[in-house]
This record gives sequence, structure tokens and C-alpha cells, in this order.
Amino acid sequence: MSTASYKIGVIGAGVMGERMMNALRTHQTFRIAAISDVSAERAQEAAKLSGDVPWYTDHREMLDAEELDAVYLAVPPKFHHGIALDILARKKHLLCEKPLANTLGEAEEMLQAAREAGVVHAMNFPTYYQAIFPELKRRLEDLGTIRRIDILTHFHVWPRPWQQTPWLSGREQGGFIREVLPHYTHLTYALFGDLEVVRSEVDYPADPEACETGVSALLRLADGTPVTINGLAGIAHQEHLDYRIYGTEGTLSLQNWTNLHVGGNNEPVVQVDIPLIDRLSHLLDEFARAIRGEEARLVTFETGVKLQKVLEELLGNH
Ligand SMILES: NC(=O)c1ccc[n+]([C@@H]2O[C@H](COP(=O)([O-])OP(=O)(O)OC[C@H]3O[C@@H](n4cnc5c(N)ncnc54)[C@H](O)[C@@H]3O)[C@@H](O)[C@H]2O)c1
Repeated sequence: MSTASYKIGVIGAGVMGERMMNALRTHQTFRIAAISDVSAERAQEAAKLSGDVPWYTDHREMLDAEELDAVYLAVPPKFHHGIALDILARKKHLLCEKPLANTLGEAEEMLQAAREAGVVHAMNFPTYYQAIFPELKRRLEDLGTIRRIDILTHFHVWPRPWQQTPWLSGREQGGFIREVLPHYTHLTYALFGDLEVVRSEVDYPADPEACETGVSALLRLADGTPVTINGLAGIAHQEHLDYRIYGTEGTLSLQNWTNLHVGGNNEPVVQVDIPLIDRLSHLLDEFARAIRGEEARLVTFETGVKLQKVLEELLGNH
């Protein structure tokens, strides 16, 4: 294996940026070379934790001053498009946070720009890099014919207590439909292929600036298998996420990201212990492989555009 090291710039040092930087700081191939955040305090703090690398409050200054191989972009969704185009104009490999953009048109432009730049483009869907993903795939074979997939996302409060940033509570770019559901539409796409929205009803509060409080939707896989979405925020129950696949022979239920429960029909449902792996390092390994020109397992902007279409249809923006 090559020992090349790649210089990566980070744009956005918030909750997710910090998580990814933790993985980058110990990664064998990537080296954080510079950090940019509109908040000088965050940029400076993150730069200090990354070996006193240069920091910026304007990403264009960073892109012009630093010799980077790649950029990781982790700013709120409505800023993905503009910043991504700046990165791609400089032909840097790009790892972008989900959702790809804030509209379908923006996502399509980002894909086009990435193709024209001829760089590696990838997105961060952690479950795809967890040991749970191959386990789910393997166990699908025991389920028989798939009858239905149910996606349940319930939140006691939204945004969650650990994510109290104003953009997440706003209608423009926040809400759990944008923030959480793409993980499950991606999981469904990765396991079963294309899906389309048949209907979606979104509950909005009276405040026109506030994000949704509920969604109830029906989607279908290409073979017609129904996929339901039941999302609610502001309820008595604590956060509960459940991704269920019902087959003619049994059921799989992935709860709260990593707890897998399985059962054959007429058998008790049991929890299966699956070792957790460092999913962000795993993604970075694949990203590095693609940069070296090797075969890699990435979620590209092509998939990001497909998921953006589903997202906009769920939100009723079409
Ligand atoms: N893949 C995942 O599991 C996962 C998890 C959480 C968040 N996310 C995604 O990551 C992105 C960031 O979310 P977050 O929770 O870290 O948000 P956050 O609000 O905690 O952090 C965003 C950071 O971006 C900075 N910022 C805003 N505009 C900027 C700009 N123009 N240039 C540079 N910096 C800018 C802010 O100052 C802040 O530090 C979102 O797209 C979100 O959906 C992904």
C-alpha cells in the first residue's frame, strides 16, 4: 500500500467538522493542513488541536494560500453549493457533508462541477461504513421477499439538546427531514436501489420560519415495494429511530443507528451484537483509495443528487 500523505483542508469546524477532524488527526494518510470557519474562535481552536496549522475565516483565502490535495466541507447545508463550487474550481478532491445541497438545482450543479474538475467527490453517510451495513446486506437473504420497509424517526425535541444551532430549527435549511432522513433514504438506496416518493405530508408549525414537526410519507422501490416514513418531533417519547425491513420469512430492525434486532416469522426477535468500527476512518480509507486512483467504495455526488431529489419531494419542493 502507498504511504503517500494527502493534505486536506477543513471548512466548517462545528459539531460534525470536529468529529471528522478527530478521525483525520489519527488517520495514516490524511494530514489536516488548514482550517476555515467563519467563526475565528472555532477555526483557531480547531487549528490548535490539529498541530497549530494555519486557520482562516474566509475559505477562498485558504484555498488560494494553501496547497491542498483535498477538502472536507462541513458547513450548514445552504452554504454547501457556493463553497463546493469554489473548491471544485480549484480542482480539489471533495468530501462533502450530507445533504449534498439545499435544492435539487444546486446539487446538480455541484455534480456537474465535480465531473468537469475530474476530481474524487464523496459524501459522508456513516452507516454505510459501519460493520452493520454488510451485516444487514447478508441478513436480507434470510428475509424472503421484501414486503415493506418502515422508517420511524421520533424526537422528543428538535433540534436535539446536543445540536442547538439556530439553522437546525429553521425551515430554510434545518429540520429532521433534511438532517436525519437522508441517512435512511441512503441506506434504502444502498440496499435496494432507486426509490421514488409517492406522497408526503409535512406538518409545519404556524411560525413560517420554523422547521417541520412531522412527516408521513409513502415511497416505493423500483419493484413497487412500499417504504413508509413516520417522523415526529416534540413528543413525549425520547429519541427513537427504527429502520425496519419486513420480509415474507422474517424481520430486521435497526434501532438508534447500531442496534440490530432480527427474527424469523414465528420466532422471538433477538438483538444481534455487531462490533462497532471506526466508520469515519473507514470512509477516509476509501476516500484516499479513490484519490490514488484505486477502486473505492464511496457515496458519490451522483447518489447525492438522487437523494436530493427524494429529499425535495419529501419536503414538497417540486
Ligand atoms: N454525516 C453525518 O453523520 C452528519 C452529522 C451531523 C451533521 N452533518 C452535516 O454536517 C454539516 C454541518 O453540520 P454541523 O452539525 O457540524 O453544524 P454546526 O452548526 O455545528 O457547524 C457548522 C460550522 O460551519 C461554520 N460555518 C458556517 N458558514 C460557514 C462558511 N460560509 N464558511 C466556513 N464555515 C462556516 C459555522 O461557524 C460552524 O462552526 C451539515 O450539512 C449537517 O447536515 C452530518
